[in-house]
Amino acid sequence: MRAYIVWDAFDVHRASEFRRKADTAHPHRKDIVVKRLEGKVAYITGAARGQGRSHAIRLAEEGADIIGIDVCADIETVPYRGATSLDLAETVTLVEEVGGRMLARTADVRDTNSLRAAADEGLDAFGHIDVVVANAGIISYAPLLEIDDAAWETVIEVNLTGMWKTMKAVVPAVIAGNVGGSVVLTSSVLGLLALPNVAHYVAAKHGVTGLMRSLAVELAPHGIRVNSLHPSTVETPMIINEASLRLFTGGQSSTRGDAAAIMAGMNALPVPWLQPIDVSNALVYLASDESRYVTGTTTVLDAGASAPVKMPSIVP
Ligand SMILES: NC(=O)c1ccc[n+]([C@@H]2O[C@H](COP(=O)([O-])OP(=O)(O)OC[C@H]3O[C@@H](n4cnc5c(N)ncnc54)[C@H](O)[C@@H]3O)[C@@H](O)[C@H]2O)c1
Repeated sequence: MRAYIVWDAFDVHRASEFRRKADTAHPHRKDIVVKRLEGKVAYITGAARGQGRSHAIRLAEEGADIIGIDVCADIETVPYRGATSLDLAETVTLVEEVGGRMLARTADVRDTNSLRAAADEGLDAFGHIDVVVANAGIISYAPLLEIDDAAWETVIEVNLTGMWKTMKAVVPAVIAGNVGGSVVLTSSVLGLLALPNVAHYVAAKHGVTGLMRSLAVELAPHGIRVNSLHPSTVETPMIINEASLRLFTGGQSSTRGDAAAIMAGMNALPVPWLQPIDVSNALVYLASDESRYVTGTTTVLDAGASAPVKMPSIVP
């Protein structure tokens, strides 16, 4: 028996009304909490560390069961270390510490069969899949005309084709559940804008935006919503490594402190980068029924980096 209400009969106000009544009737009962993802199961790629780990913990805090996959290996052509199986195990521990349940499996988003096998095991464990978070990604750096073929192909294969393979492997389970659902793809501000030295990444992330829009149209009749997240720089191992810090300091330094000072200049708000939790909080909204009529949209989280408000003070 599914633990929650059929999507088209769901009244979003019911949850807030329940919370209001609980507060009124039991002002001393601080333990009555309505979780925003209670009864849902979320499949997350790239769950071993960074944003994927944060997403797993945050969705679990809101009551979701988690199926988390990660390649847990270094990836050829990527200039920083990949996650490990110990990282993925640590995510499981952290999910359990907030009272959640997580099934973790090693799988590569370039391999549909491994993604599908994890989905099948997740279905056996939890009974259904309601939310798909396609988050796994990589980056490497070179001017457009100097990107070598292998680096180009790997970034497109993981960041774009891997998202499509995730959809192909997991979304049929959401359709089969017949109660709607939510798919969230992690693009980037670079899925909407350009930056030098990452053309393959920019092309892949623009592709993810197109994939999201296409899927939103195709899945709408099933009551499944599809949206994308577009963070600017987030403080994760993808950024806090020698190659990335060197790029962002124009080759001058590879220290976190030097890069932070420079990167703060990219944003309107006085911060060098976002934290994973900032992205996870937006994900909770998109994954939950609070956004029940939101589909085909691009959620930008960029500390104002893409807003034209970074001029030095202008004297009229
Ligand atoms: N960090 C940023 O500044 C930033 C900004 C915008 C968007 N993004 C995007 O956010 C997503 C998460 O990145 P992050 O910042 O957490 O980086 P991260 O490197 O910390 O985490 C990425 C995770 O994806 C996994 N992964 C990589 N290739 C995989 C594959 N082939 N199959 C399965 N798992 C794989 C890695 O092992 C790792 O655990 C990525 O899609 C990235 O492009 C990152």
